[in-house]
Amino acid sequence: MNDQAPVSTPEILPSRAELTMQAARHWLTACEASIAARDAFHCALAGGGTPRQLYRCLATPWAADRIEWSRVWLYQSDERVVPPEDPLSNWGMIRHELLDRVPLPPDHGHPMIPNAGAAGDPEGAAARYDALLRTRLPQAEDGAPVFDLILLGVGSDGHTASLFPGSPALEERSRYAVTVETTAVPTQRITLTPPVIESAREVIFLVAGEEKAEIVARLFSGGDPDLPVARLRPVGRVRWLLDAAAAAGLSG
Ligand code: 6PG
Repeated sequence: MNDQAPVSTPEILPSRAELTMQAARHWLTACEASIAARDAFHCALAGGGTPRQLYRCLATPWAADRIEWSRVWLYQSDERVVPPEDPLSNWGMIRHELLDRVPLPPDHGHPMIPNAGAAGDPEGAAARYDALLRTRLPQAEDGAPVFDLILLGVGSDGHTASLFPGSPALEERSRYAVTVETTAVPTQRITLTPPVIESAREVIFLVAGEEKAEIVARLFSGGDPDLPVARLRPVGRVRWLLDAAAAAGLSG
């Protein structure tokens, strides 16, 4: 197990557009390699605003025509507890930017909150997602589900997925999807837990914008070991993709 915080040498791209293209290249490479090796690509998609352009890019013919969609299964890193039709829904964003534009088989997309009923029963939705991960994904030696790729963003407070500072979910080692309460709006979330993120074959942190420069500098300085992102110990490859604005606080 790696005993270092998951900050590797970042790839710094000059613009948001070039960050998106580089993320798409890495996504396509991971997808093609997973299908070649295991005839399947299981990927958890991040929410929030940063990955929106990436999903839109993956839906363009340049990318979509390279992807063997029948061998792809898409999941979520985290979700706000709102119905999928709500403008704040991460799955709603993923569906609008990607799923409505590509031939992913309908039963290959796995939202954490599939309908309004699930939004009314977040504990049940999290338990069902935990069970889904246990049955649909390969397992590591410790039983944790193994994604081929997990996409994550980073909040300006150092959260990732919906693992927020001080959250009990940061200590969760037996369940793989749990509900969390946050001060962020919406306050109720469902999130993948640390053992799932740590077991992935590859994790890509996609971070952009000047509002992230301070947290990126704190993470890469190693001075805040209690930040949620700093506490993770992924066993697989970790990539940091930053635009120049988010990397502005990094020395050298
Ligand atoms: C969410 C995300 C969250 C996000 C970070 C960064 O539901 O909001 O999953 O973890 O990745 O907050 O968000 P931005 O990409 O919008 O800055």
